[in-house]
Amino acid sequence: MVNFEIKTMTKELTFTMIKPDAVEKKLMASILSLIANNGFEIIAIKMKKLKLKEAESFYGIHKEQPFFSNLISFITRGPVVVAVLKKENAVEDFRKLIGNTNPEKAENHTIRKKFATSIGENAIHGSDSLENAKNEISFHFSEKEIF
Ligand code: RTP
Ligand code: MG
Repeated sequence: MVNFEIKTMTKELTFTMIKPDAVEKKLMASILSLIANNGFEIIAIKMKKLKLKEAESFYGIHKEQPFFSNLISFITRGPVVVAVLKKENAVEDFRKLIGNTNPEKAENHTIRKKFATSIGENAIHGSDSLENAKNEISFHFSEKEIF
């Protein structure tokens, strides 16, 4: 069991993953700069290639969706960057920074508007609740990898 504080008096943690489309397009550094410039502290980070089983488990909530098999082949086709971010109101603020799932509907200043290709290949993931942030951080990181 990974043991870390998901929320303190002032700050909370969220989880992000830069997806294979963005890594392929060499957007990793630009996206990390945007994240840092928006006040998020990166307290854990690594590059990895998700195994099929890992991807199916990570996106298990969507397994009945028609897009599930596309999602799994997409997310496993190349390396991703996983990271833990720290900020006041991190979960909600990070969802605002990444923007709508569909880049056509995302606001101009958002990461998906700037860098995503389509609703399927949308450059980045962000946790949608504090509970999911805790689960997703534990899924990808051990306690000693979080600083
Ligand atoms: P994420 O979990 O990756 O941060 O994205 P999200 O919350 O904005 O969207 P969600 O509904 O959780 O969907 C997870 C990912 O599945 C792919 N997707 N494809 N209609 C489609 O083809 C479709 N819908 C969703 C996207 O990669 C989406 O981010
Ligand atoms: Mg989601």
